[in-house]
Amino acid sequence: MQLTILFDRLRWEEKALKKEGENEGCEASLLDAKGLVLEVSTPRKRNGLGDLALQRCISHYRALYLTKILENMSLEVVNSSAVTENCGNKLLTTLLLGKARIPTPKTYIALTPDTVPQAAEALGFPLVMKPMTGSWGRMVSLARDGETLQSMVELREQLQNPAEHMYYLQEFVKRPPRDIRAVVAGDEIAACVYRYAPEGEWRTNVARGGISKAFKPHGRVQGRAVSHARQHSPQNNQVRPFTGQEVDW
Ligand SMILES: Nc1ncnc2c1ncn2[C@@H]1O[C@H](COP(=O)(O)OP(=O)(O)OP(=O)(O)O)[C@@H](O)[C@H]1O
Ligand SMILES: [Mg+2]
Repeated sequence: MQLTILFDRLRWEEKALKKEGENEGCEASLLDAKGLVLEVSTPRKRNGLGDLALQRCISHYRALYLTKILENMSLEVVNSSAVTENCGNKLLTTLLLGKARIPTPKTYIALTPDTVPQAAEALGFPLVMKPMTGSWGRMVSLARDGETLQSMVELREQLQNPAEHMYYLQEFVKRPPRDIRAVVAGDEIAACVYRYAPEGEWRTNVARGGISKAFKPHGRVQGRAVSHARQHSPQNNQVRPFTGQEVDW
């Protein structure tokens, strides 16, 4: 099998994946997505791209659009564009989890800045405001009262991207100063860590100085993480998604 590993920043993980692919008997190659220029207006063959692609681009939109193009060439990509789209968007993830009745923090969407106070009243303070698309905890903000929330909304209104002018507001989960991140591959937990928030920070992201510590997940964590992951690709039995699930409790 020919495996293409797509990246936009080459880290040790991509090199390790190539090596593991080769150990498994694949012909694995690394491809820098930033160098690709693709003609998309006529149906294309997937010449030179192999049988399976691993999508490892860090940029959400680069990964999403490139995956859509490759799927259009009938190339199987892990993760699929549907998984990337759902997992990369907090609103879509919340809708999926809610539909599957998987416990998730109470969340409201206000479609204008004017309706934010209404959502805040329903949630109470403190509450968490997040961009719908984003990572590493960027712009994930804690509002302890209405005045702070109002200032946060005013700042968000100054941003150019219209998607930032809709507001994803969530109850603050009273958890220990750590949460759990489980990486699920297929129906198995490949890795699981406690993430501890650094001093003076409520978010646990490693990108914000959080510390990860490996731990062996017990049955409840296992069950929940796998059922979270399943919601992202229930129709795809061949290639299951590879997701990093956050389970806060
Ligand atoms: N509702 C909440 N209650 C308490 N803590 C929260 C809540 N939402 C987020 N956090 C904290 O903030 C961190 C960042 O939030 P979130 O994971 O939603 O953002 P992200 O930008 O998608 O991060 P990542 O890149 O790690 O996925 C979480 O890891 C958690 O520690
Ligand atoms: Mg995230």
